Amino acid sequence: MSVLITGGAGYIGSHTCVELINAGYDVVIIDNFSNSSPEAIKRIGKITGREIKCFNCDIRDSKGLEKIFAGNKIDAVIHFAGLKAVGESIHKPLEYYDNNIGGTVTLLESIKKAGCKKIVFSSSATVYGMKNTSPLKEDMPTGGTTNPYGTTKLYIEQILRDLYASDGEWSISLLRYFNPIGAHKSGLIGENPRDIPNNLMPYISQVAVGRLRCLNVFGNDYDTPDGTGIRDYIHVVDLAAGHVKALEKVLGESGISVYNLGTGKGVSVLELIHAFEKVSGKKINYRIAPRRKGDVAVCFADPGKALRELGWKAERDVDEMCEDTWRWQKNNPEGF
Ligand code: NAD
Ligand code: UFG
Repeated sequence: MSVLITGGAGYIGSHTCVELINAGYDVVIIDNFSNSSPEAIKRIGKITGREIKCFNCDIRDSKGLEKIFAGNKIDAVIHFAGLKAVGESIHKPLEYYDNNIGGTVTLLESIKKAGCKKIVFSSSATVYGMKNTSPLKEDMPTGGTTNPYGTTKLYIEQILRDLYASDGEWSISLLRYFNPIGAHKSGLIGENPRDIPNNLMPYISQVAVGRLRCLNVFGNDYDTPDGTGIRDYIHVVDLAAGHVKALEKVLGESGISVYNLGTGKGVSVLELIHAFEKVSGKKINYRIAPRRKGDVAVCFADPGKALRELGWKAERDVDEMCEDTWRWQKNNPEGF
């Protein structure tokens, strides 16, 4: 079986390619390297001992996609490609709508023409908005996103629902990720932010390695045990394994399903800092800063549906997430 991976050079895509190859799938990657490096492709090859087929192609390029579908047998698509910086999306909404929504529509047209009609999509817990109370369940209302990035995920989920309603031959899996962190055990691939990281874990690891001086903890007056925000951090290799399970389902039957991919456990900002300090032996310099606009106090998954229907659950704990992040960061202080 051969799977087309859009955005396969990126953080989650690269780890998923490794898990897919380990599970016996062939992968064909397309990426425009707008937020990644071709070096990631070499590293996937090094980890798996395989020659990796990769095309430098934008998902908005219908002619390029057509050629790739014509020249390669594709049984299903896993669609990671997209822009993902929440803050940037507020300043550049049109870029986000064009790249994420426009790109997805072009990709879906190409998939349909090629006739494979099977797709796993990278959605996000952000579609739950600010109103629901954790643990978040798949049947809770979505909407009320606070930035264009989140809105692209919400709209793409709807586009995929509409597509399935129009043609029941499609097989679609919407995966709502919580907070992926960690890296592959080899230390060869990991998260590689281009600019100053927006997310907590890459910020912590860059402070630890000496690239950044001090972490701002955004608020310690939330209604949580230590006052800092609580999230559901999930090891990226567990997340990648969830894609292999979702793919099996998509290959096996038509339909549309949505799954939370999280651990179900909430961890505070201070708890994550202290876990990282423990495993790395490094002191993380931090200060308490005002709350960040748009943040909720608590966000974690009910991952029960993925366990019941896909037989998947996250296995790795926070210490392992920190250990693996640290190995990657130490070995690659400047990223790829
Ligand atoms: P990433 O930026 O590392 O990977 C995305 C990849 O897509 C990059 O390699 C980028 O170059 C590529 N890309 C972007 N636009 C493209 C286009 N038009 N054509 C071809 N390639 C393009 O991000 P990631 O963290 O690996 O995230 C993967 C997906 O998961 C994204 O859709 C993201 O929104 C979603 N997601 C991520 C998180 C997270 O915290 N990392 C959480 C929820 C959802
Ligand atoms: N935080 C800090 N300092 C930082 C960065 C983050 O204190 O420098 C805190 C935040 O306030 C929050 C927690 O760390 O309490 C996690 O923040 P992240 O930015 O790492 O993650 P978010 O939960 O805010 O956002 C992530 C993804 C989004 C996605 C969302 C869905 O980055 O793309 O999860 O739940 F939409």
